[in-house]
Amino acid sequence: MAARMAELEARDAADRLDGTAHLARLRQVPRETGEFLALLCAAAPPGPAIEIGTSAGYSTMWLALACRQSARRLTTYEVLAEKVELARATMALAGIEDVVEVVHGDFRGDAARWHGVGFCFLDAEKDVYDACYDLVVGAMASGGLLVADNVISHAAVLEPFVTRVLTDDRVDAIVVPIGKGELVARRR
Ligand SMILES: C[S@@+](CC[C@H](N)C(=O)[O-])C[C@H]1O[C@@H](n2cnc3c(N)ncnc32)[C@H](O)[C@@H]1O
Repeated sequence: MAARMAELEARDAADRLDGTAHLARLRQVPRETGEFLALLCAAAPPGPAIEIGTSAGYSTMWLALACRQSARRLTTYEVLAEKVELARATMALAGIEDVVEVVHGDFRGDAARWHGVGFCFLDAEKDVYDACYDLVVGAMASGGLLVADNVISHAAVLEPFVTRVLTDDRVDAIVVPIGKGELVARRR
């Protein structure tokens, strides 16, 4: 797993410098966010883990480490076929295919499947955050955790979403200034 993490970190860094087109870029979380996600996911209450926005599976590897520790499975959703292919290669190289299911498709079309969710990481296009949040929050276990990425790096576009979550009386929530800004919400 360490070798695949290092390979994707190098590719992501190069993407950001070499003019790779937006949709082709990995756009993955920095390492400190991966560590933060793993810590939170390992501490979440029992129940399945979900990731919305896989890319090549960098954050998925961090979550898989936590899922092994907390005896839960992770399902990760990705809409782009080329990213799904990369992610499936990552799962094989990292030896986590037994813990992770990679779904090629839009989370919103599969959300009815979920109940008692212990942990969710939301890292998709910003225009689907509201819809994904609404679908997940109703399916979360009591004490379940949802983390949404980019709430500081994309503060302007995500400000209405963040305000809505911070004032949603179904959750306790806070913005944590780590990585690109993580909104952490805990289901009451
Ligand atoms: C920022 S990248 C994810 C990075 C990944 N979480 C990581 O840190 O390694 C966002 C990904 O979400 C995917 N995506 C966008 N909307 C989606 C949706 N509705 N359902 C599933 N995936 C989606 C995009 O194709 C893109 O690959």
